[in-house]
Amino acid sequence: MILLVAFIAKQLPSCIHSVFVEKYITYYKQRLMRGDSIIMDVDSTYTLSNGVKIPCIGFGTWQIASGQATVDAVKEALRAGYRHIDTASIYGNEESVGRAIRQSCINPQEIFVTTKLWNSDHGYEETLKAFELSRRKLGLDIIDLYLIHWPNPKALRPDYAKHNAQSWRAMEELYESGQVRAIGVSNFLSHHLDALCKTARIEPMVNQIPIHPGCAQETLVTHCQKRDILAEAYSPLGTGKLITNNKIQAIAQKYHKGSAQICLRWSLQMGFLPLPKSITPKYIQENVNIFDFELDTDDIDALSALKEDVPAVMDPDRVPF
Ligand SMILES: NC(=O)c1ccc[n+]([C@@H]2O[C@H](COP(=O)([O-])OP(=O)(O)OC[C@H]3O[C@@H](n4cnc5c(N)ncnc54)[C@H](OP(=O)(O)O)[C@@H]3O)[C@@H](O)[C@H]2O)c1
Repeated sequence: MILLVAFIAKQLPSCIHSVFVEKYITYYKQRLMRGDSIIMDVDSTYTLSNGVKIPCIGFGTWQIASGQATVDAVKEALRAGYRHIDTASIYGNEESVGRAIRQSCINPQEIFVTTKLWNSDHGYEETLKAFELSRRKLGLDIIDLYLIHWPNPKALRPDYAKHNAQSWRAMEELYESGQVRAIGVSNFLSHHLDALCKTARIEPMVNQIPIHPGCAQETLVTHCQKRDILAEAYSPLGTGKLITNNKIQAIAQKYHKGSAQICLRWSLQMGFLPLPKSITPKYIQENVNIFDFELDTDDIDALSALKEDVPAVMDPDRVPF
């Protein structure tokens, strides 16, 4: 495939060097440069800047109630083939995620688990304490990925950079002592990343941000790529609002797929790591059944440029929490 695309590209005069070819070459080059295998199935991985492999799709758990609802959803996700679970201390369901992992009888080392530092736990000592609590709740010795959840919590403005630097120092120590395999951030815009990297000894490996059709975050993602930071796509279905989007539904019909599958496939072909959430077994299965088709570039472009009924995203510098 790669050779074929390169061959076609060479044959085309530059004036008709189509967006199709450009996009695909960029896509495959990115994968090759990272040393990743081409995304083939739910077990395919991206490689983070420190060499850690991360499964290319993760199961989101925001707004799943702690207790049986989370246990059932996470077990269903693991049965469907997900090996990557995304939680956070603020979701209140870390204990249930841990219980589901134990009940699944899958070796915990085969499951990539992310959790996040909440806004009220910033600071060096506080971060170490919050991490330990999350780790105990999850019942895991090692956390795969630990993220700063928000860059600029309301209570820490206007000193956010200082607080992030202190929290990050603790995260670097957790990483260096082997308690966490990778560290990163979430909801960071370019200026938050630049501020953090001024004092960081280790640069973030991941930035988890809202990404979905109509919200490709091109400027921020380019900034992340320059720093070799993988962009994880949270709310990849626009928190469910894109399921009924007319344009996405039309594309879905063409591929005989559902709207959610189109959004997720778009995410993967753009080089993002989507984190869909669902409590519905049928949807949980459907959302990993996205490896048997490929969107053509016109559709990728149309989804990237989508304007109609696209949910707005929050400004991290103005969030009321
Ligand atoms: N770092 C952050 O600040 C942050 C913020 C937001 C989200 N996240 C992460 O990203 C994850 C996903 O984002 P999200 O929770 O906003 O929502 P999402 O994954 O964009 O959408 C979830 C919604 O879509 C529905 N759905 C899922 N699959 C479907 C399908 N195949 N067909 C029809 N409907 C479907 C779900 O319904 P049911 O659940 O009823 O089945 C739910 O209502 C979160 O769970 C969390 O892990 C992180």
